[in-house]
Amino acid sequence: MLRTHTCEELRIKDVNKKVILAGWVQKIRELGHLTFIDLRDRYGITQITLSTDINPNLLEQAHTIQREYVVQITGTVRERENKNPHLSTGDIEIMAENIKTLNPSHTPPFTIEDNTDGGEELRMKYRYLDLRRNPLKNNLILRHKLALETRKYLDSLNFLEIETPFLIKSTPEGARDFIAPSRMNPGTFYALPQSPQTFKQILMVAGYDRYFQIVRCFRDEDLRADRQPEFTQIDCEMCFVEREDILQTFEGLIKHLFKAVKNIDLPVFQRITYEQAMNDYGSDKPDLRFDMKFVHLTEILKNKGLSVFDTAEIIIGIKVKNQATATRKQIDEWTEFAKSPKIGASGLVYIKYNEDGSIKSSVDKFFTEEQLRTALHAAHSQKGDILLILAGEKIKTLRRMGQFRLYLADYLKCIPQDISACLWVLDFPLFEYDEEEQRWVSMHHPFTSPIGDLSGNIAGLKANAYDMVINGSEVGGGSIRIHNKPIQKKVFELLGLTEEEAMKQFGFLMNAFEYGAPPHGGIAFGLDRLTAIMCNTDTIRDVIAFPKNNAGKDIMIDAPSEVSDKQLEELGLVFKASLNSKN
Ligand code: AMO
Repeated sequence: MLRTHTCEELRIKDVNKKVILAGWVQKIRELGHLTFIDLRDRYGITQITLSTDINPNLLEQAHTIQREYVVQITGTVRERENKNPHLSTGDIEIMAENIKTLNPSHTPPFTIEDNTDGGEELRMKYRYLDLRRNPLKNNLILRHKLALETRKYLDSLNFLEIETPFLIKSTPEGARDFIAPSRMNPGTFYALPQSPQTFKQILMVAGYDRYFQIVRCFRDEDLRADRQPEFTQIDCEMCFVEREDILQTFEGLIKHLFKAVKNIDLPVFQRITYEQAMNDYGSDKPDLRFDMKFVHLTEILKNKGLSVFDTAEIIIGIKVKNQATATRKQIDEWTEFAKSPKIGASGLVYIKYNEDGSIKSSVDKFFTEEQLRTALHAAHSQKGDILLILAGEKIKTLRRMGQFRLYLADYLKCIPQDISACLWVLDFPLFEYDEEEQRWVSMHHPFTSPIGDLSGNIAGLKANAYDMVINGSEVGGGSIRIHNKPIQKKVFELLGLTEEEAMKQFGFLMNAFEYGAPPHGGIAFGLDRLTAIMCNTDTIRDVIAFPKNNAGKDIMIDAPSEVSDKQLEELGLVFKASLNSKN
């Protein structure tokens, strides 16, 4: 070993020990005939003191050393005169006897401190330097612990971790696939899995009754703070279970992870239906760390003479506590946001319940005071509160108010950062209408079991599906699956797939189901999202060692990039590629 200890290990009890440390130079300070180096490794920082009294050559050697040089120090542990209470090794220092540069370093393009001066792109390009910083390092350590504790918990319940392939068959359902051309079978393509969904179901048919996998998934979708083109799932499936068994087992997993990694005891998770979530919070992933539940005001305020209300399908409000004092400027700002393309509302109406008991509203002239008081009363408003109202077409208005609720809570800084609001959202619709494709698509995926039979209005069918939501982020989702061929066939039919198309895409699964498919169900968690929540960061990029940027690029390795003509030729893609370049 090139070191006897790490840079976090030595304490007062080690005084007088002869040690060898190796690491990166965080900082160098010169003070008279003494030079101090903060030596850093993954574990921490130790102060090295160089004095000419000990070795006359030391300072000369020290002059050649700069930030981020990799050095090896031989010396003796000594109690410090000026102790540093902020550092775990702050009681000691190493009096260096020898210092050796193991490798020099260019001056880093940004400071490697907890608060760095480097911009996002620069830090992505030099990700290896960014990863030296504590915030990212601590996130990756926490991620490691989460994965480890997940394996422990699931192993203790007899789950087996089984790998499934990355080169699979492309199917048009779901998000866009990343495809990989096959050299050996020209003109054909593999797809990278969006999830191991069909394989885990086939493993159930094969009798592996409790499966899990911490697995990379690939989806060619537009990126956001909580989306990456490749991300990691904790993917799970179980046989002979009903919904309640899955909810219990995986609520248990999340509770175990919070306890083991953060020492937090979570209470029993709330459960709400999709319909309730939409009606009360305008979102299928409501953030329940704060209240601001919707108040439905259609009955009270419609047909009273205000045309935007009278023509609206729905009128909803949110009560904001103690904001009756909001200034004109603030309300203008909120209104502007409500009207911005991000939300798209036509306007925002307010009713203030002033401290002195009087009422002030932006629509005073259209309503009697009694009508306005009835609206305030419906919202259980107290003196000092304000009621903010949107109106319009039902689903759009609910969603708009959902986004506005999040904006306002953030604006007013009323989202507690120290609690985790975990809930299950249940009874999703089985299908949703895709405006772009002009057809019904599965809300979850086509293997989701319906609740009840498949007769009746397609829009009203419910799925035996569930999502887990923490602090307004969908961290997991799953369902009880269809395990019987006629129902699966009927679902494909409702999705507009002919029998041939269904067989071509999913024949392998349909066939497997004819050989003794047990009742089964499962769930998959987004490990990146779960880690981001536990690390209190808004973007999953901060919990992935080598993420892609917003344009889906890895700028450190410069991917995606062009490939040689020879490679294209071997893959049988030359013709298409050259055509494209001419267009
Ligand atoms: P679903 O598509 O809901 O379900 O995905 C499960 C969870 O994976 C996470 N996730 C993502 N995380 C980061 N970037 C992305 N692009 C991304 N997409 C999804 C989310 C989500 O809740 N096979 C089913 C699961 C099942 O039915 O068992 C599936 O993949 O946290």
